[in-house]
Amino acid sequence: DWTMPNYVDEAIARIREQVGEDEVILGLSGGVDSSVAAALIHRAIGDRLTCVFVDHGLLRLDEGKQVMETFAQNMGVKIIHVDATEQFMGKLAGVTDPEAKRKIIGREFVEVFQHQAAKLKAAKWLAQGTIYPDVIESAGAKTGKAVAIKSHHNVGGLPETLNLKLLEPLRELFKDEVRKLGLALGLPHGMVYRHPFPGPGLGVRILGAVSSEFANLLRRADAIFIDELRKTIDPETKQSWYDLTSQAFAVFLPVKSVGVMGDGRTYEYVVALRAVQTSDFMTADWAPLPYPLLAKVSSRIINEVRGINRVVYDVSSKPPATIEWE
Ligand code: XMP
Repeated sequence: DWTMPNYVDEAIARIREQVGEDEVILGLSGGVDSSVAAALIHRAIGDRLTCVFVDHGLLRLDEGKQVMETFAQNMGVKIIHVDATEQFMGKLAGVTDPEAKRKIIGREFVEVFQHQAAKLKAAKWLAQGTIYPDVIESAGAKTGKAVAIKSHHNVGGLPETLNLKLLEPLRELFKDEVRKLGLALGLPHGMVYRHPFPGPGLGVRILGAVSSEFANLLRRADAIFIDELRKTIDPETKQSWYDLTSQAFAVFLPVKSVGVMGDGRTYEYVVALRAVQTSDFMTADWAPLPYPLLAKVSSRIINEVRGINRVVYDVSSKPPATIEWE
């Protein structure tokens, strides 16, 4: 009979058999798939797993801290935490074209990861959180964006250049199974049921040129939005608006508009809120968030984030709009 505990035992046995006494490295992003893969492999081989967590400076508020807490402190997973913010910001300075930005972020990511991996001379395996839909998707036709998604996601080219064998223990699982597996392995509910986050991170949510200043403003606005979504419970379904949306985030618009505060005039940046409902992310509807929730988020952002004086809500569906703004 198929049960989760049986599945966990089998998956662990398979990993042990596959890697033997070898060492394994894994690129941890904080997303569901790489997190579950890390927890599973750690359960199977303990200290012979080393995770590399690259912070490109485009993560959400406190994300690095949360990943380190969950994996290093609570689970005892070996993690190399690389703060590559300066390197990424340097390469991105002044670059405005969305595809160029994606390419730079993808390329730097591979380079930073590769540099770390090369130091772990004992490693024979590269583990990835590839899940079944990724396997199908790679076999099918792709848009330019999908290719970019893959190449970032799977740290393209690494196995060849590093002479590592691929370990993909989630290859047969659908997303909901990966989530159940994550819970069975003791990962926090909030991590297992979090919205997807793109590899290029806030880099595609800051329109045009990226800077640390813009990233810091966006991080704070985004955290307020997510906080209120988690706190606001829909009376009908008893679910939070975070759980009732498939993806929600703030977008930084590098335009200034005039506002008024106290006796003074302000001239500051705009933040757009994006929240969608979708089953497959190929099409999506903008989420009908309750007005009081939008009002709360807007007033909190404008009052708490100096530098933002206007908040707008994105009412575009996909298609023709995409979920991300870049
Ligand atoms: P779009 O904007 O194309 O997004 O409607 C569809 C889904 O894909 C995610 N996305 C990415 N994920 N690397 C990723 O890992 C990427 O480069 C990337 N671009 C978009 C997006 O967040 C949404 O869930």
